[in-house]
Amino acid sequence: MREKLQTPRHVAIIMDGNGRWAKSRRKPRFSGHKQGVKTVRRTVEYAASIGIESLTLYAFSSENWGRPEAEVKLLFELLSLSISEQLADLHKNNIMLNVIGDQTALPGRLVKKIVRAVDLTQHNTGMKLNIALNYGARWELASAAKELALGCVRGEIKPEQIDEARLEGCLSTAGQAELDLLIRTGGEHRLSNFLLWQAAYAELYFSDTYWPDFNEAELDEALSWFASRKRRFGKTDEQISPQAIKAGG
Ligand code: IPE
Ligand code: IPE
Ligand code: MG
Repeated sequence: MREKLQTPRHVAIIMDGNGRWAKSRRKPRFSGHKQGVKTVRRTVEYAASIGIESLTLYAFSSENWGRPEAEVKLLFELLSLSISEQLADLHKNNIMLNVIGDQTALPGRLVKKIVRAVDLTQHNTGMKLNIALNYGARWELASAAKELALGCVRGEIKPEQIDEARLEGCLSTAGQAELDLLIRTGGEHRLSNFLLWQAAYAELYFSDTYWPDFNEAELDEALSWFASRKRRFGKTDEQISPQAIKAGG
């Protein structure tokens, strides 16, 4: 049983290490991606069961187009298959699916499937599951800038009215809880163009575990670590925990 800890409202995961997981088993990269999908299913179910409000998963970055064509094709096929296989359960678990990223470059059939899945679950009131697909934070920020500029040209807003809240309102995660915890598996310590704006005050957790081996216990470990962080948001220790003054430190 998990201890009752402060649970982050919004968790994002850079699911990295599928290829190396496969390589370490002398298997093709694709088998790592397939195993990774199983981890996604477990993680989504677990996150929803412990009351996380939003879970944002990095499935395919705008830079991942640079991979061999065959891997890109297989990744999209796997994504399409996972939607087919997991949609009923997502819906049953009251999860609201949201796909973030530039869908214009995705295969038409996949986009249709995404639209149907998002439509089916859009009134669900449980956890919000954001799948980042052909997502890049720089693309997201440029799109937001474009939207604001268009608003100005149309006379809907004045340039001097543009502020953080308005820009945030144009992001793919608009209206959702602030990102609290960003996890990256697979040993790398970088953001790889993921949620650059949203991560401004997120706690960053890096695990060496390859994504296919990530599990509920590992997520619990990340959550316990999160609960032990002092989130000062620019303030001093004493301001956020007055007992620190009494204790003299
Ligand atoms: C993450 O695993 C999955 C995607 C980027 C689609 P990788 O495929 O990047 O795995 P490694 O980093 O090569 O081990
Ligand atoms: C980040 O992983 C993207 C996803 C997990 C989908 P990568 O494996 O593509 O990241 P880099 O290229 O090593 O930074
Ligand atoms: Mg990788």
